[in-house]
Amino acid sequence: MFELKPKEIDRLVRAAIDARDQAYAPHSHFYVGAALWIPSGEIVHGCNVENASYSLSICAERVAASTAVMKGYREFHAIAVASVGGVSPCGACRQFLSEFGMDVQIIMADVLTGARQIRSLSQLLPDAFDASNLPTN
Ligand code: THU
Repeated sequence: MFELKPKEIDRLVRAAIDARDQAYAPHSHFYVGAALWIPSGEIVHGCNVENASYSLSICAERVAASTAVMKGYREFHAIAVASVGGVSPCGACRQFLSEFGMDVQIIMADVLTGARQIRSLSQLLPDAFDASNLPTN
């Protein structure tokens, strides 16, 4: 697993907490921020964005990954996710992130207690479905 240094983790978690301030969650009132660590050391933020048609809501992790791709990045070393309780990424986000590599450090931060849990994407999504499972032309 790729591993950020402790100070880099602190920086990434702070960025995720800042991103959480932008969360648009009028339906669940569950506010989430995410911050992706790009190999260059740049950080890309994301927050959850909900919709009155609930299933259209998108998680902070997918907003961050999509924003990073838009900026030209397709490789991520780590992602911090900040929420009350320090929740782990949902199944859809695990799969979405796996498109860009399994060797990603996932840091889950509880904004209330400061507690952090760290896992690799391979730990959270074993036996992932990927492009190698698709037929070749
Ligand atoms: N949510 C995230 O943004 N990331 C997670 O890891 C878990 C859930 C959002 C989706 C929805 O807007 C709200 O939290 C409640 O599910």
